[in-house]
Order: sequence, then structure tokens, then C-alpha cells
Amino acid sequence: MSGQITVVGSSNVDFIMRVERLPKPGETVTNGKFAQVYGGKGANQATAAARAGGEVVFIASVGEDTYGKAMKKNLRGDGIETRTMQFQSGTSTGSALILIDGKGENSIAVAPGANDLLTLEHLEACSGVLRGSALIVLQREIPEPIIAFTLALAEESKVPTLLNYAPIKATETELCDKISILVVNEIEAAALSHLPVGNESEAKAAAIALRKFGIKTVIITLGASGSWVCAEDFEALIPAFPVKPLDTTAAGDTYCGAFAAAFVEGKSLPESVRFASAAAAISVTRLGAQPSIPTRAEIDAFLTKAQAE
Ligand code: RIB
Repeated sequence: MSGQITVVGSSNVDFIMRVERLPKPGETVTNGKFAQVYGGKGANQATAAARAGGEVVFIASVGEDTYGKAMKKNLRGDGIETRTMQFQSGTSTGSALILIDGKGENSIAVAPGANDLLTLEHLEACSGVLRGSALIVLQREIPEPIIAFTLALAEESKVPTLLNYAPIKATETELCDKISILVVNEIEAAALSHLPVGNESEAKAAAIALRKFGIKTVIITLGASGSWVCAEDFEALIPAFPVKPLDTTAAGDTYCGAFAAAFVEGKSLPESVRFASAAAAISVTRLGAQPSIPTRAEIDAFLTKAQAE
């Protein structure tokens, strides 16, 4: 299989600050290091898929401001088709405030801005692009009706879908039977399955429960413990690659984008997960969302080195 990956999702400008520890409510911490980078779960996943070798189209909504125009140019630089991006006047581009502590953990607050104004009319105008995709990738930083419309169109056109259930919003399950591949972390898996997910055996039970909602393949990322993968003919824990984290921002996005590229290329499910895990491992050793996303050459070199060890 090969072909186009269409990502429908958010694009944010990330204002990031590294601090020794996250402040408690009402507290000020100082000596932070500041940077402004491109982010947004959708744009990060599109970037990860493109850098991993995928042919990517990005459907999104940004403000008609300096950030929106710069983002489009930046995504073009990664070879992503951006003519499907919608520009909104009178609204600012989405933004995120991200604090990262000394252990690489983060806390993120998002102001969706133009992301919330992505319209069904625009998706309808892009329906030819969606129908011609080898895989459609979605996350949850855009309006729910857009997700529902895209999943329905994909089902009708027999295009497989990957939904990254992040961030957690409502935990409805009626769209689940339209999801080919669900990628969730422990917290998202627990919210959607209404089961605890703290270890491998709980992940296994949650994945089985999620598949009963009609999802074909469930991937639960368990951080350093690896990925629990559950499909009709495959069930296993695929180990993660041990690395020292600097910043975990966009690790999940890098995973989803790299997985999409590998899957569309025809790699098997476990091979695609291993490829995605390698990409995510590299990303956590670097600062920022899109600046941390590796290229195909970097992922291949990482996997070759890991194999030799
Ligand atoms: O997943 C990381 C992303 O979440 C950041 O880039 C930020 O923009 C938020 O969307």
C-alpha cells in the first residue's frame, strides 16, 4: 500500500518555557528558558508523517495573522500540501502555553482560536482529497462535528482512519465503529473504556473493551513500558526504546504521524508500531513540538543502532 495521508486537525503556536519544576497554584517560579515554536496536535502529526516519508495533505483552520501565514510556509517546507488550510479573518491562530519541568514532563493550556472555526463547508470542499486518501488522521483539537463528518465520509469511501483520542473531551463511543486505528495513552484509554489503565494487563483488558465498540485496531501507549497493541489477529506489548527525556511535548503526535507513514508504506502493524516508537523516542530527547520531530533518516539510523545493541 502507498498513497496520501490526510491529516485533519489543529495548528497552534506554542509558547514554551523550561523551568526546574512546575509552579503550584499562586506560586511564581523563575529562571525559566523561553522559546516560541510551531505546534498543535494536527500540525505536529502532519509534520511527523511527512518527515517520516509520507505524502501528506493538511486540512486545518488558522487565523489570517502573522502566525497563520508563517505556519503554512513552515509546513510547506516539510513538503506538506497546505492549499487545504482555511484562513479565518478576525480570529487569532490557535496557541498553547507549555511549561516543561526538569524531568521533561509538561503541562499545556490551549486557546483553540481559529481551530474551533474549521467549517463543515470547508471539509465538504475537501471531500475529494479525503476520499482519495490512503489514511485519514484525526485528533480532538477541532470541533466534534468535523470529526464525525470525516469519520462518516471515510467509512462511506472505505478509507481507513486513525484517531488519536487527545485531548480528552466527552467520552462518547458512538463513533468508535468508524475508527480503524485508535491511538491513546493510558489516561485517554481509561477515560474512553471506563476501565483503569495503569499496567500491561489493565491495558490488555481496556483494549479488548474498546475493540468491542467496533474499533478495529487499538494501540495504547504506556510511556517507557511500550505500546499495547490489539487487533483481530495480533495482540502484544511492543517495547519502547529507553531514552533520557528532555521534553515529552508532541511525543504522542510524533508517534501517530510516524505510524501513519509506516502503515501507509505497507509495514506490518508491529513494524509500524516499532517505527513510531523510535520516532517518539528521538522526539523526547529534543525541545519543543515540531523542532523535536525526526526525519526518516534519523528514525532509520536510530532503529539500526538499536538493533545492533
Ligand atoms: O501534543 C502537543 C501539542 O498539544 C502542542 O504542540 C500544543 O500545541 C498542543 O496542541
